[in-house]
This record gives sequence, C-alpha cells and structure tokens, in this order.
Amino acid sequence: RPGARRWVPPEADVDGLRAAAPGCRGCELWADATQVVFSTGSDRARIVLVGEQPGDREDREGKPFVGPAGRILDDALEAAGIDPGGVYVTNAVKHFRFQMRGKRRIHKTPGVAHVEACLPWLEAELAAVRPGVVVCLGATAGRAVLGREVRVTAERGTPLSRPGPDGEVRVVVTTHPSAVVRLRGRPGFDEAFDALVDDLRLAAA
Ligand code: URA
Ligand code: SF4
Repeated sequence: RPGARRWVPPEADVDGLRAAAPGCRGCELWADATQVVFSTGSDRARIVLVGEQPGDREDREGKPFVGPAGRILDDALEAAGIDPGGVYVTNAVKHFRFQMRGKRRIHKTPGVAHVEACLPWLEAELAAVRPGVVVCLGATAGRAVLGREVRVTAERGTPLSRPGPDGEVRVVVTTHPSAVVRLRGRPGFDEAFDALVDDLRLAAA
C-alpha cells in the first residue's frame, strides 16, 4: 500500500488531478471498484464538501453524491440557501470499498490506512481550490481533513480550522448525509436533517 503520492501530479489544477486519478494504485481499493470517483465542481468554489467514499451508485456513475445520500445533500444545500454551483464536492477516499452479500455490494467503511493512502489527492484538491471553508461530512472526512480522530456529535457547531496556504482555513464537521438517509420515515429524521442544514448554514456564513 504505497499511498497515492506518486500518482498525484504536482501543482496540478483540478482538471489535471481529475485526469490523473484513474491511474492511481495507491492502495488495493482500485482493483474491485468499477472506476475512480473524483469530484464535481469548479476550482473557484468557496466551499469544499468532503464525503467519505463513493457508494454503489457513485461507483457505477463515476460521480460523487449521485445516490440517496446525494439527494439528501442537495435538499440540505437548498434549505441552507447554498448555490450547488458554488461548491466543490469530493470524498476522502476515491474508490468504493464494499463487501459482497449475496449478489449485493454492501458499503464497508474505509479504514484509517485507506484514508491515509488517499490523502494526497484531497490535499492536492484543497491546494488547487483554496476554499474559504471545508465541510466534513462525517467522521471519516473529519479524520482526513483535520488529521486526527473526530467525534461529530461533540464537535459539530464549533469553529475548527486547518492550516492553508494563506493562513488558517475554516473547517466545519457535520453528520454524513447517509446517516440522515437511514432515518427517513422514522422518528428523528426532521431533527437530523435540520441539524445538517444548520451546520451547512454555519459553513456558508
Ligand atoms: N457517500 C459519500 O460519502 N460519498 C459519496 O460520494 C456518496 C455517498
Ligand atoms: Fe488511489 Fe485512493 Fe483509489 Fe486507493 S482509494 S487506489 S489511494 S485513489
């Protein structure tokens, strides 16, 4: 598991990174996945949203957040008054990690080693986009962005930051939209959705 560094072109813009990512062999996850899932959005975005890893739908379509979690995220962005055209959306880990259960591919949380192997891509993206704020969707994204263990329930709503090229960059941690998806039609859904919207509003403020 050599890590992604030798596949990441130095000083590249987002298009350059996106073009190089399919060649990455920085960890074993590329082998069973359909394709790399890089990012959407422009390198002039002020807000970067970081998810965990692509899901089944994203793996097949090659784009982040196009499945059920993406629909929740889109709804939450709209409720927070954030123009989806102004955000850059990516994941901490760029290949889908899964387990077969019968004929179904079941999401398997990436390990710390996968997050570390893939980190050179995320660092290169942040260097290219230079956002004003980074939103971590869940604890895996938090670990990648902050370089330490993150407890979402304890740390959401508090101002965090990480070093950037022009000083500290604001960081907001919030729940993963998949956690909200799992509450759909059940008690607690509205509260979980509203809390996600509040965190996105805080990020945009
Ligand atoms: N969940 C994620 O973390 N990222 C995606 O792209 C889709 C679902
Ligand atoms: Fe490279 Fe990341 Fe894919 Fe591993 S998950 S092969 S480090 S792009």
